[in-house]
Amino acid sequence: TKNFTLAVVPGDGIGPEVTTEALKVLDAVAAQHGVTFERTEYDLGAKRWHATGETLPDAELAEIRKHDAILLGAVGDPSVPSGVLERGLLLKLRFTLDHYVNLRPSKIYPSVGSPLANPGTVDFVVVREGTEGPYVGNGGALRVGTPAEIATEVSVNTAYGVERVVRDAFARAQARPRKKLTLVHKNNVLVHAGHLWKRTVDEVAAEFPEITVDYLHVDAATIFLVTDPARFDVIVTDNLFGDIITDLAAAISGGIGLAASGNINPDRTAPSMFEPVHGSAPDIAGQQKADPTAAILSAALLCEHLGLTEAARAIEAAVEADIEERTGSVRSTAEIGDAITKRAAG
Ligand code: NAD
Ligand code: IPM
Ligand code: MN
Repeated sequence: TKNFTLAVVPGDGIGPEVTTEALKVLDAVAAQHGVTFERTEYDLGAKRWHATGETLPDAELAEIRKHDAILLGAVGDPSVPSGVLERGLLLKLRFTLDHYVNLRPSKIYPSVGSPLANPGTVDFVVVREGTEGPYVGNGGALRVGTPAEIATEVSVNTAYGVERVVRDAFARAQARPRKKLTLVHKNNVLVHAGHLWKRTVDEVAAEFPEITVDYLHVDAATIFLVTDPARFDVIVTDNLFGDIITDLAAAISGGIGLAASGNINPDRTAPSMFEPVHGSAPDIAGQQKADPTAAILSAALLCEHLGLTEAARAIEAAVEADIEERTGSVRSTAEIGDAITKRAAG
């Protein structure tokens, strides 16, 4: 029996509720596939911050780093100033562990409800850059609170950072049947970063002659995500555009309750981290109303990353079967988790 070590950060709001269900499913498939997941839980998040003022101490980050993978629920709470936990915990993990590929697949399951009347066959993946762009915190505010206040958030895009994520996206497109890559940016306005991204895609494209390359400005991409989502295969984009379009992608393909993600360190110099695309949903937290499917599918991405392909497929199949039988009657978070666990256990 091979043992994998997991650092678990349930976090805030619905984070702990959905993480509990993802762990149930992981244990069920572990038993089936001759592996074990040894967990260490970290009580990071709003409660800890209120108690100690800490978001993610370096010593704890060093501990987390020793694990094979990280499973995270959600981070952020209305009682904590916006940005403290998001930046100090979540982004600190993504940046320090070099999660430069933020992988966010979208698929419309045959039986799932989409708000689109005629979506067609939708099965694409967004490769969102995870360590640069407007997220780096490069900026500041002057004369705060005065009429002369100036706030800047300067997007950082390095040739190194853009090239590595673009290469990863091409490699993923190469491994997929449709072999299509769409760069999403805004190079008609954000000319400095936009041209770096476009030039990089054009250069790397020369090494992947089988890939069809497309470009869309991000505003137009939101049109096509609604009117013709089937046109997408692999989308590569910057950190902020990727954040926005993946919530839209979730909304058209079954809702935010189904959208999974992996913060991948492709070079494996640190553990990758798996989490639902959604946040801590304070509006429904603590009520067993959250759909744990996104967290469960994130656990499938975790298995895939650890080379447990069959376990990943078993989780996906269990989710697909569960979705097929969703009747519209309301189930609790635990009821959905239990139903998927039962199926995943075979
Ligand atoms: P959100 O994703 O938490 O919620 C948006 C809406 O979707 C809410 O109505 C919520 O109830 C619903 N929703 C989300 N997940 C759901 C689920 N699993 N099942 C059913 N409904 C679900 O986004 P928000 O309201 O913008 O942010 C709330 C907090 O979460 C903020 O503090 C934000 O910074 C944080 N956040 C964290 C992450 C993360 O940890 N990765 C992601 C997004 C937002
Ligand atoms: C997400 C979230 C985060 C992001 C926030 C909470 C930092 O919205 O994971 O999509 O913007 O990346
Ligand atoms: Mn987001």
